[in-house]
Amino acid sequence: MGRVICAGLGPGDPDLISLRAARLVGSARHVAYFRKAGRPGHARRIVEGMLAADVSEYPMEYPVTTELPFDGPDYNAALAGFYDHWADRLVSLAQSADVLVLCEGDPFFYGSFMHLHSRLNGRVPVEVIPGITGMAGCWTATDMPITWGDDVLTVLMGTLPEDDLVGHMQSADALVVMKTGRNLPKVRRALARAGRLDAAWLVERGTMPGQRIARLAEVDSADCPYSRWFWFMAMDGGPRSGNERVARHRGPWAGVGCDGHTRGQRCTGAGDGCRRLHSLCGAGGAPRGSHAAPFRQPGRD
Ligand SMILES: C[S@@+](CC[C@H](N)C(=O)[O-])C[C@H]1O[C@@H](n2cnc3c(N)ncnc32)[C@H](O)[C@@H]1O
Repeated sequence: MGRVICAGLGPGDPDLISLRAARLVGSARHVAYFRKAGRPGHARRIVEGMLAADVSEYPMEYPVTTELPFDGPDYNAALAGFYDHWADRLVSLAQSADVLVLCEGDPFFYGSFMHLHSRLNGRVPVEVIPGITGMAGCWTATDMPITWGDDVLTVLMGTLPEDDLVGHMQSADALVVMKTGRNLPKVRRALARAGRLDAAWLVERGTMPGQRIARLAEVDSADCPYSRWFWFMAMDGGPRSGNERVARHRGPWAGVGCDGHTRGQRCTGAGDGCRRLHSLCGAGGAPRGSHAAPFRQPGRD
């Protein structure tokens, strides 16, 4: 009996595929991948030119994507039947050979493969190859670190109700919003209500040809056609230096910069907030408790 192997392919640039996944892609005889009906599929596009000439391909076309409300019973029933069908099909194919399932990013990070994984369990050997997530590709593309020290990273789906988005955004240290697409106007409104819009960056097609990075506040929604090649991610960030970032990144610290010293200089002030600020501003080496007080954030340090 063969195995069902799901390979995470990273954020989009084929150079960011792991060696193990690349070896499997090049030698696979059976390759399956998800795609919207009539579209090539993001994962399939990443491996263009890498598959063997005699490979058999199995596009797994979603019966619905955005046509029905994603939390409605019809949507759930259609997708459950779809995953049941493909789990059976993969088990059947794996009777004689390995089957490789392609997955964008990392399979266990909001990946569709998870729906097959639970259905394949105990029926066929399954292996999962991790991949670099799309969000890692995106924040690296911005050249801005996303989390520092003991920051809590919040990952949200743009499909959430607006009030839920606002609540999570308000409490986040650092923030990633995925599945923005047609939800972009809602995500933008929620960021504005949470007071985070000015810190948000939009990354389209991160690490892929046509990559675009822009401050979300400066992007015109009309300039974002929701075509298949446009993926969206809004993320908390700020200007490209640690000091400025501190000023914009923290809700309670909004407007407060690390003005006690500049990046790389030794701090001479005093206060409990310095541990966090030093990790943010890059002034390494200074002992804890040696920063000027204005940055104190009760309950955080
Ligand atoms: C269903 S999730 C799959 C996540 C994937 N398993 C991962 O590890 O990144 C797809 C969403 O991730 C975001 N995304 C993934 N890769 C991206 C990229 N390279 N550029 C922009 N957004 C990306 C988009 O918001 C897209 O709608």
